[in-house]
Amino acid sequence: MTHTPLVLSGMQPTNTLHLGNYLGALKNWVRMQAEMPCLFCVVDMHAITAEAGYGKPDELARATREVAAAYIAGGVDPERTPIFNQGQVPEHAELAWIFNCVARLGWLDRMTQFKEKSGKHKERASVGLYTYPVLMAADILVYKATHVPVGEDQKQHLELSRDIAQKFNNDFGVPDFFPLPEPVITGHATRVMSLRDGAKKMSKTDESDNSRINLTDDAEAIAGKIKRAKTDPLPLPSSKDELKGRPEAENLLSIYAALADQTLDATIAQFAGQQFSGFKTALSELTVAKLEPITTEMRRLLADPAEIDRILKSGAQKARAIAISVMDEVKKKVGFIT
Ligand code: TYM
Repeated sequence: MTHTPLVLSGMQPTNTLHLGNYLGALKNWVRMQAEMPCLFCVVDMHAITAEAGYGKPDELARATREVAAAYIAGGVDPERTPIFNQGQVPEHAELAWIFNCVARLGWLDRMTQFKEKSGKHKERASVGLYTYPVLMAADILVYKATHVPVGEDQKQHLELSRDIAQKFNNDFGVPDFFPLPEPVITGHATRVMSLRDGAKKMSKTDESDNSRINLTDDAEAIAGKIKRAKTDPLPLPSSKDELKGRPEAENLLSIYAALADQTLDATIAQFAGQQFSGFKTALSELTVAKLEPITTEMRRLLADPAEIDRILKSGAQKARAIAISVMDEVKKKVGFIT
């Protein structure tokens, strides 16, 4: 059986969104919106799995509205595509419980993101952080979504979602009940790296704000961060081969390519042999030109939080209608009397 194409993706409302979230995910969502029906969620239930979003209700609500505003300012049209926060659709948690019984401990033990996030003191991490990828599978499958546009760091979680879908289908004798969701990892910047260290991912939780460009940064902040970005002493390369062992150069060139909507090869050709200083000026100008309209629109939207709450509620109602009908089917398959 083929499933009706449906896109689902989400972002955590933890701190502010950055260029990696934009280039790795949001930019692709906007493109996909023209091709398939989509649902975009702000994953507030995921945000409380770790310290950054736990025990700070005002901050969580603020960040949730900010992420919703970024979706809209980045080009998601809430009239066409439901935008909602996970906490308003309880079926995510309901399906996650069932999936906790489908997923195996051994599968979760392999999740590299849990290992990174829990650090040396695994026993002090929340149980929610451990089962985080199970909730993510529920986010997707509670709508029977078929396509999931994400950055490269989410690939392993998507594989787990596929394993859960497959095991549910097998164990309950319902082949094809859940689709095996496809990761959509595209664009020239599927893994944007820190501006301070080309070996580390650009991240919301990096303690150095200079490591990332936030979607709320103004032109001056962006230019300052790019100016301070780590580089190497060589001039810019003239071929992809010459990028080997130069992660910072590769990262900055990839960011340029993604923002300019051109290939990495074309970008390398454009700056071949030049010094970083001139390239950094061009990169700052391009980044500001692309982000400023988004930042300005985010600010405008955030000035009216009640309107954002209305959009989230209306998106949640549309999403729930789908989730409730899938959960009705799931409960019957599992044997829950309804
Ligand atoms: P989150 O909130 O960490 O990131 C949101 C999206 O941004 C992408 N991303 C990046 N892409 C390129 N370079 C980077 N440095 C970078 N950092 C982040 C992420 O891959 C992601 O697509 N678990 C998810 C949220 C989630 C979800 C879902 C996603 C919950 N349920 C269901 C898809 C479907 C996360 O923490 O993303």
